[in-house]
Amino acid sequence: MRVMGIAGSLRQSSYNRALLAAAVELAPEGMTIEPYEGLADIPMYNGDLDTDELRPASVVDLKRRIAEADALFIVSPEYNYSVPGVLKNAIDWASRPGYKSVLSGKPAAIGGASGGGIGTARMQVHLREVLYATLVHVMPHPGLLVGAAQTKFSDGRLTDEATRQFLANFLRDFHAFAAARRG
Ligand SMILES: Cc1cc2nc3c(=O)[nH]c(=O)nc-3n(C[C@H](O)[C@H](O)[C@H](O)COP(=O)(O)O)c2cc1C
Repeated sequence: MRVMGIAGSLRQSSYNRALLAAAVELAPEGMTIEPYEGLADIPMYNGDLDTDELRPASVVDLKRRIAEADALFIVSPEYNYSVPGVLKNAIDWASRPGYKSVLSGKPAAIGGASGGGIGTARMQVHLREVLYATLVHVMPHPGLLVGAAQTKFSDGRLTDEATRQFLANFLRDFHAFAAARRG
């Protein structure tokens, strides 16, 4: 199973990028997570450019990668209680044509890390709602909520053993969920 991993932060030393890197390491047998590195190249959505002739190459690449992936693993910071614009913008590009896009029917799991106590819980409620509009199937789960991130990462690596174990189990659940969705 090939999973496209997306971190909703462009920061080099991002906790969420480090969380995604840990997921690459901890993915169960039969699942490969490939981090998507193109988010910084996606321009702001412009319907005038969303045509087969004018669509930016970065967006064409994003959509191709989503189409080729069996599932999506999205981890993101919470910005002002919601989804960072950079991530929402990429989802908007990928979501067209509405209800018939490359996102339609794609299994996904979501999570996030933040310095706060509730580890992106409010962002995840909003992200679930946004993905609902795109017909992505988000795994029902109590959640991958990594709070107090400054105590769990060091030098760009997830070092907290309990969180690593939780993430490994989460990815095992996700593997089963996505496999069942694929039939
Ligand atoms: C514009 C902005 C808004 C933020 N809003 C929240 C928030 O609502 N909740 C929260 O827990 N952290 C918030 N933060 C702090 C982020 O959780 C923190 O910067 C985190 O490290 C970002 O994730 P990253 O390390 O993956 O880049 C905000 C940060 C920024 C820049």
